[in-house]
Amino acid sequence: MSSQAPVGVFDSGVGGLSVLHEIRARLPDESLLYVADSGHVPYGEKSPEFIRERSQAISAFLLEQGAKALVLACNTATAAAVADLRERYPQLPIVGMEPAVKPAAAVTRSGVVGVLATSGTLKSAKFAALLDRFASDVRVITQPCPGLVEQIEAGELDTPRTRELLQGWVEPLLAEGCDTLILGCTHYPFIKPLLRQLVPKTVSLVDTGAAVARHLQQLLEQRELRAPQGNAAQTRVWSSGDPQALSAVLPKLWDEHVEVLAL
Ligand code: DGL
Repeated sequence: MSSQAPVGVFDSGVGGLSVLHEIRARLPDESLLYVADSGHVPYGEKSPEFIRERSQAISAFLLEQGAKALVLACNTATAAAVADLRERYPQLPIVGMEPAVKPAAAVTRSGVVGVLATSGTLKSAKFAALLDRFASDVRVITQPCPGLVEQIEAGELDTPRTRELLQGWVEPLLAEGCDTLILGCTHYPFIKPLLRQLVPKTVSLVDTGAAVARHLQQLLEQRELRAPQGNAAQTRVWSSGDPQALSAVLPKLWDEHVEVLAL
């Protein structure tokens, strides 16, 4: 496998672009392939079997395009499918992601942490194992956010409806004494500026995009797969839904101009 080969990244929709930002910032020489499974978004309420099938199909596509590594830029897909993909592709560097419970447990002072994530993530065995491992000394309150992914997919990052939804989930968490909120879905960093307005300054907002980029860097270095400095890095984007709809919202979420291709 050539070190100039691209890294394949996917999510149910645009959320993984928040992770792609972190990868682009940390690894500017890497070419990136991004698949938004917009034809099947949201994953949050779908069965693990369905998400596994989608993850298999998208991973096979990214490998056909020459990907040297895969990033599941989606907490819900990681919970449902990362073990299966690692079994299918034992030689391939694969990075998954999970809500930042460990860092949150380290920063909370009140000892109460809120987790905003999809139902799929919160119901998963992987999330239960994460709590067992890292949250024994803190109280964790989970909050699914049905409808929030759809708002973000529509580019409604700071509209009255998005604000109202968010307020309804966050206020009870604050009332319970949460001083740390985990953004446990890759869509949510896009509404961080809005969330910041709704919570006191003392509340920490934590997500794992930067940690994912670091982990990817380590895996590529271990396998001597880092792209050479000065590599003409490209970004290519596909959507399994309507490429025009994604193109319309993309300028709010990604700062380079990229043509969206149909998957
Ligand atoms: N962005 C996703 C995650 O990190 C999935 C959102 C969804 O499609 O429900 O969980």
